[in-house]
Formats: sequence, C-alpha cells, structure tokens
Amino acid sequence: MTEQRQLKLGVSIRALGYHAGGWRHPGVPADGAMDFAHFLNVARIAEAAKLDMLFLADGLGIRQKDQPAGSLCRSNQNAELEPITLLSALAALTSRIGLVATASTTYNEPYHLARKFGSLDHISKGRAGWNLVTSWSDAEAFNFGRDHQMAYDDRYERAMEFAEVATGLWDSWEADAFRHDKASGVFYDPDKLHTLDHRGKHFAVRGPLSVARTPQGRPVIVQAGASEQGRDIAARFADVVFSAEQNLASARDYYASVKGRLPAHGRRAGELLILPGLVPIVGATRAEAQAKHDELQELIDPLVGLAGIYGNFGDLSGYPLDGPVPEPQDPKLRSRAAVMFRLAQEKGYSIRQLYQAVASGRGHRTVIGTPADIADTMADWVEQKAADGFNIIPTHLPVGLEDFVRLVLPELRRRGLFRDDYEATTFRGNLGLPEPRNRHVAAREGGVPLSA
Ligand SMILES: Cc1cc2nc3c(=O)[nH]c(=O)nc-3n(C[C@H](O)[C@H](O)[C@H](O)COP(=O)(O)O)c2cc1C
Repeated sequence: MTEQRQLKLGVSIRALGYHAGGWRHPGVPADGAMDFAHFLNVARIAEAAKLDMLFLADGLGIRQKDQPAGSLCRSNQNAELEPITLLSALAALTSRIGLVATASTTYNEPYHLARKFGSLDHISKGRAGWNLVTSWSDAEAFNFGRDHQMAYDDRYERAMEFAEVATGLWDSWEADAFRHDKASGVFYDPDKLHTLDHRGKHFAVRGPLSVARTPQGRPVIVQAGASEQGRDIAARFADVVFSAEQNLASARDYYASVKGRLPAHGRRAGELLILPGLVPIVGATRAEAQAKHDELQELIDPLVGLAGIYGNFGDLSGYPLDGPVPEPQDPKLRSRAAVMFRLAQEKGYSIRQLYQAVASGRGHRTVIGTPADIADTMADWVEQKAADGFNIIPTHLPVGLEDFVRLVLPELRRRGLFRDDYEATTFRGNLGLPEPRNRHVAAREGGVPLSA
C-alpha cells in the first residue's frame, strides 16, 4: 500500500467570509471587518484545528463598482484592515499557524516588502508568508497617481524582477552573521553580510536588507494567478500556489502545468504545493447542508446578486428577477456571457437563480454535502494529482470555518488525511518544505540550493 499523503490546509479569512449574502447571517458579526477580536477568534479556531495557514487576500482600494447603482452599499467588500498589520498583531497571539498576507508587486518597492515580511517572519518566529499578486484593477491605479493600471505584460515583468530582488535581499545576511560578542565588541561578522547591487529594468536596489536572515530562511512565497506569466513566477519562486479551479479535469491540467515547469528552475515537484480554493457547505445530512446553502442564497440582496453578473449581462435591474434571463445585447459582453446564457437556458434559470448560482462559489469549487461528501472530493483531488491540499474559503465567518472544523476535519483525520498536531514550529516546516539555502553560502560551499 502506498503511504497516505496528508493534506495541507489553509483558510482564507478575508473580512466576513466570501458568500455575497454571508455578512447578513445571524452568526456573523456584521461590524467584524474592523474588529481585531473577530480575526483573533477566527485565528484561534484555525490554530486549535491545526490548520497550516491563515490567508488574507487583499486589494488596494474598493475594486467593486456600483453597478447596478445601489449594489455597492449593500456589499461587504469595502472596508478592510491592512493584512501585514493585522497578521503582525495575530502573530503575537498565536504560535504555530502560518500567516500569509497578500501584497502587490505593482504598488510596492521590493525593499518595502522584503523588510515587512522579513520582520513578520521574525516576530512570528518563522510563520510569515507573502501572497505575491500584481493587482488587476484601475480602481487600485487611481490610488497611486495613475489614470489606469499598468499593462498586463509590464505588470508581470515587474513582478518577476520584484521577486528576484526580494529573494536577493532576504539573502543579505547569512544565518550566523550576528556574533553579538560583548567581550570582543564585534556585533556581526562582515564577511557574512552581502550587498545586492541590483540594477534592472524596474528596480535599482543596492541593499543589503536591514533585517537579519529570517527564521524560515525567507518567508514562504505564495502565488495566485493562472496565466502563463503567473505560472512561470510560481514555478521559479513560489512555495505554494493558491488557485481557483472549478472541476477536477482543469485542476489536474493546471497542477501538471505548474509542476512541469519546476525542473527548468532546478526544483522538484515536492517543493511547490498547489492549494485550490474550496468552499465547503457542510451538514450532518445532505438535506441539512442544502438548507444551509439555501439560507445563504436567500440572504443575497438582489442588487448585489445582479452586480455579480453585471460584467457579463449588463444592467438587469429593470427586469423581473423571477423572469427569464435575457440574451446579452451588447456585443462586447456577448462572447463572455454566452456560456452563462446557455447554462441559464439549459437549466431554465430565472435571473435570480442565475445570480444565485454565480454568487455561490465566487470562482472556487463549492461542495454542498455531508462531511464524507466533502472529504471524498478532497481525497479524490489529491489522489488524482489535482491538489496537494486546499485553501478553505468559508462562506461566512466564523460559522463556515466552525462547521468545517467540527464536521469535516474529524472525517479527514479518521481517513488519515490530516494531522492531529503540528509537526514543526515554522510554517515552512509544517508544510514539509525545505528551507532555502542562502545563495552566498551555497556559492561558497557548493551543493544544492535547498537544505532539507
Ligand atoms: C485564487 C486566486 C486568488 C487571488 N487573490 C488575489 C488577491 O488577494 N489580491 C489581488 O490583487 N489579486 C488576487 N488574485 C489575482 C491575481 O493575482 C492576478 O492578478 C489575476 O489572477 C490575473 O492574473 P492571471 O492572468 O495570471 O491569473 C487572485 C487570483 C487567484 C486565481
């Protein structure tokens, strides 16, 4: 028998959860997005359950548009705490769980992020992670002195160089550079400090970084982005990929595509973990799970629901919600909307049913069912090389996470698919990933760039 592979599990804890109606659920603190106590409660639930990571998605502005008019003020995606600040506070009150913050390569300088994530890694004693994103909206550009966002290829070119510089800065100090020798008066060994001297197209950074080598060697790098450029960045730099995959076949393709790029960078398949998002809606019976889902669906304000399909269908607020879905008239929308329109026709969806179907998973795989149903999907995806684990996307917080922990984790543990306790003290250690070697040490001593 082959050894059972254990799942790696994160939880995405943005705001009040991901379901468009979730914030209106009676179990959700509607004012929680600015309340540290809400996040601490969620973090403690996740850590008591021995999850690998708390993951904070982020945007640098309010990206959602008020389309149709009146929808934005009914959505909860607006005021959010800055992720590195929030995770720094959580670092002091947790001890084992990984702490991943999203940060943009388009609106930061590499020195900023190398220093902040390096500091978070020290503060948390080796639990920091950076979700590297390039930012995709004009709304963010408007907050940084631009009229529109940087062109796609330029954003990714900058991101690649950004990651080169950040990882270079994290190698500034060798691990044993600091002697702190009061007797001799020597604070650090000058031979173990390295200046980067980077001059590239987007950045000129002399270095060295004013943060010592971090407990994990360097913070864990997470990447989320599915394009060719996104996959290349992942293959070269990422330790973890967070993906959005709806079905097994496409998840397998994506998994093979990203892992297949690793050898070109001298990396093995086990050095990068792929964690698709998964929205679990779990009940003791299928009927109970379905009832939980229905309850959430009823909480979607119609304008918020219509906002979710505005990009594909335009403004449908003038149409009866329980009437048929009209064919998109705008030719710009038509091709992208065709798939959804066909789906609506095949299933006989009303406008309300269509927006409910779209709102449910926000692009991620949703499983509504018993603990066994959800565990089956998870086990199947891992077995079929579509995932190394999952980033759990709770519909509403803390309730969606509590349900997952109370109902699904015991089932995964019964099957030997998830740990009973943390194996290591660092995030990287719990993920089972090797610690990167300092490039200067590797150059001097030879050998492979990673130490197991
Ligand atoms: C699962 C997933 C999560 C993402 N999370 C964020 C995020 O928190 N903030 C952000 O600005 N972009 C986020 N993105 C967007 C990507 O970073 C990227 O801008 C977008 O996917 C377009 O790039 P691509 O064509 O490489 O996918 C996410 C993308 C995916 C697939």
